[in-house]
Amino acid sequence: MRTQVVILGAGPAGLLLSHLLHKRGIASVILERRSPDYVLGRIRAGVLEHGTVELLDEVGVGARLHAEGVVHSAVEFGLDGHRHRIELEALVGRTVTVYGQTEVTRDLMDAGSRLGLPAIYEANVLALEHVDSDQPVVRYAKDGTVVAIHCDFIAGCDGYHGVSRPAIPSAKLTVYERSYPFGWLGLLADVPPASDALYYASSDRGFALCSMRSRSRSRYYLQCSLDERVDAWPDARFWDELERRVGETVAAHLVRGPALEKSIAPLRSFVAEPLRFGRLFLAGDAAHIVPPTGAKGLNLAASDVYYLSEALAGYYRSRTERELDAYSERALRRVWASVRFSWWMTSQLHRFPDDSEFSRRIQRAELDYLFRSPHAQRVLAENYVGLPI
Ligand code: FAD
Ligand code: DHB
Repeated sequence: MRTQVVILGAGPAGLLLSHLLHKRGIASVILERRSPDYVLGRIRAGVLEHGTVELLDEVGVGARLHAEGVVHSAVEFGLDGHRHRIELEALVGRTVTVYGQTEVTRDLMDAGSRLGLPAIYEANVLALEHVDSDQPVVRYAKDGTVVAIHCDFIAGCDGYHGVSRPAIPSAKLTVYERSYPFGWLGLLADVPPASDALYYASSDRGFALCSMRSRSRSRYYLQCSLDERVDAWPDARFWDELERRVGETVAAHLVRGPALEKSIAPLRSFVAEPLRFGRLFLAGDAAHIVPPTGAKGLNLAASDVYYLSEALAGYYRSRTERELDAYSERALRRVWASVRFSWWMTSQLHRFPDDSEFSRRIQRAELDYLFRSPHAQRVLAENYVGLPI
């Protein structure tokens, strides 16, 4: 088998890349380790920056997103139960859209099937060969048969636990990393959201986030310790703790309901540089992880593959590697801006186990400044809606 680009992974990065390449006249094949249902069953991100929405529109999959997604022109922050609203649209002229990653994935998969974009699910990638030559080969097994795909380029969109990043010799990769001493316990329920805006709450009991998927489906998160277990959190305990952290005015509007899903995710910042080794390019979570506090992970996956699609189109147009050479630096500039913002949000809103009263007061002063200063609010709003792609 032969194609121009083999894409590893059918998460948001891989699926969107296949559409962007198709629009630019470049053939690709997606290889995904899991089944489509498994990929669609993963409950993850929920907030799309305006630039991500534009990219989904560009590839023609925006119809359901515009019909069912909820546009948010403001976001709320809480400190010990006191609420402050930041008017994103009034401050920077942009909004964000709440639309689940599962829905984005479904729209991209459905449109890909309609267009006949090749995607092979339950494919077990065995080896990436000749990556530093101009004739790389990807070998995979499916249903007991081993297949080799010859290609011009490999796009590593296979997430943090994929095979792409480990295929790069460690001497050629520099890793920057920070682990946070807590995780997030998430709960999804078919109940109306407690607040019309997303609500990020800092409290002495730890951070809590009130988010949503639609006007009838809510997503809530609680900061938890790293050794916490989901089965230690029956629904009633989750709702009780959420009430305590969000403060009275939000708690008064909390509607309880049975959890559809409950899971724990650790928080970490991670960047591997550069995003290229020979003919292999990394994009999305394969290259970097941000803590979820800034809602940037999915949005960075989208901007990475936009830059990569442009670079590959530049190669096929000019047959020079000038734009491919620039991909890593171009993408990493935006990655680091989001790594910084996500780190800042995480640092300001969470309780750290070794917090001194001094550092807690610094956090309070920082949030107080944010609530009072239109300049600080504009900085937050500009980053939250997403820096230009
Ligand atoms: P993924 O979505 O990880 O997709 C990678 C794909 O590659 C997967 O389908 C995987 O099965 C496949 N794959 C792996 N190995 C192989 C292989 N060897 N061969 C072929 N395919 C392979 N972001 C937010 O903004 N907000 C959130 O609330 C949020 N919550 C999250 C919760 C969790 C538990 C996790 C893990 C992430 C969360 N994120 C969140 C981050 C966001 O979901 C990711 O940034 C986003 O999914 C990145 O997309 P991706 O396509 O790069 O990677
Ligand atoms: C969601 C997750 C986030 O990390 C965030 O900052 C906002 C919303 C969510 O899953 O809805």
